Amino acid sequence: MPVERDKATTVLSMVGLPARGKTYIGRRVARYLNWLGHPTRVFNVGSYRRKQIGASQPADFFAPSNTEGRKVLQELAMGALDDMLAWLRSGGEVGIFDATNSTKDRRRLVEERCRQEGFPLVFIESFCNDPAVIAANVRDTKLKSPDYVDMDPEDAAQDFLRRIAHYESMYETLDDPGQSYIKIIDVGRQVILNRIHGYLPARLAPLLIDMAVSPRPIWLTRHGQSLYNLEGRIGGDPDLSPAGEAYAKSLAEFVQKQAPRDADVAVWTSTLRRTMQTGARVSRGTRAWRALDEIDAGICDGMTYDQVRIEMPDVWSARSADKFRYRYPRGESYEDVIQRLDPVIIQLERQRSPVLVIAHQAVLRAIYAYLMDRPPGQCPTISVPLHTVIQLTPNAYGCEEKRFELAPQVEDQGAGG
Ligand code: F6P
Repeated sequence: MPVERDKATTVLSMVGLPARGKTYIGRRVARYLNWLGHPTRVFNVGSYRRKQIGASQPADFFAPSNTEGRKVLQELAMGALDDMLAWLRSGGEVGIFDATNSTKDRRRLVEERCRQEGFPLVFIESFCNDPAVIAANVRDTKLKSPDYVDMDPEDAAQDFLRRIAHYESMYETLDDPGQSYIKIIDVGRQVILNRIHGYLPARLAPLLIDMAVSPRPIWLTRHGQSLYNLEGRIGGDPDLSPAGEAYAKSLAEFVQKQAPRDADVAVWTSTLRRTMQTGARVSRGTRAWRALDEIDAGICDGMTYDQVRIEMPDVWSARSADKFRYRYPRGESYEDVIQRLDPVIIQLERQRSPVLVIAHQAVLRAIYAYLMDRPPGQCPTISVPLHTVIQLTPNAYGCEEKRFELAPQVEDQGAGG
């Protein structure tokens, strides 16, 4: 049966000077919460500004002395806030208000509106004075922004630094002991939690520690073909087939080529034989995670899809009707799989070296959905073929994907659509 979840309606309001990664943090939080099943949406005031008054406003538009500019910016921010509150009233769960919110006055307005609506509010500040981080942010995101399209990069950088200086002159960091806030200092070197109550905001803390993007590859692969794959059986703990053994060799060669000799590579498998056998030839330290075990098919474990269809038509039709939420009797649903993968995702985000994850079809679909920001409901149909390495490399916007089909290519009896 699908499980109903409690809703924890919350407003997360970003705080920070321009180029401190607020939008990156907001999107990352949204991706994570959406994946965990909490409908989350980012309301970015910069986009409202570009849409309503045009992208190319010079730095002085943002000056504290520009009364007209301040008024327009305030109206735009309040418009975005109202849209976010309306979205929450209509069934959204977490609204992320992505603006600088850099003064106490502005934050009081946000607080007031949330209080009127009865929505709990948590501020998330990105506080950073590291010139290297700011320069990287300006280079990697701001100069590519529609604000500076067709502008000489040097002029654009100068203009943007002037804009930052205007905000700096009126900036007030979060320090009110009565407010709920999470302050991320220097991309997660230090994280301060103040008055954080409730399950949802507390769940964000592990994600927000160490926020830097590490552009190292994450390789996702299913185990080599197993004896069950040959027969189209689901679950179980079978050994590899001869073709599966051959894939284990190809995979070891692949890793050797991508990360020669003793370059650091974390190799993670499930606790099931077929993944450990697949990783056995990769000569790096391996960690076996129970959380990476395949979806538990409960009373259907070991059956073929045809057997389930004929012998358990109710299970077959209920699963076909809602494959994402359907929980096998005495087993799991995709939704359950996502919940147990949470610690794997947190660890994956922290890892600085390349990671090779050798796991299973349903589990890899769930991990892929997180990394590629796919709606979790789409998990059950994501294509994760046998004998293929999916390389995902994180960047400021998401992940870049590349697929490598390794020898031997085999037919997939249980690809399950
Ligand atoms: O068929 C291989 C397999 O890993 C099974 O063990 C598992 O039950 C199945 O894939 C998951 O895929 P689907 O959700 O499409 O049935």
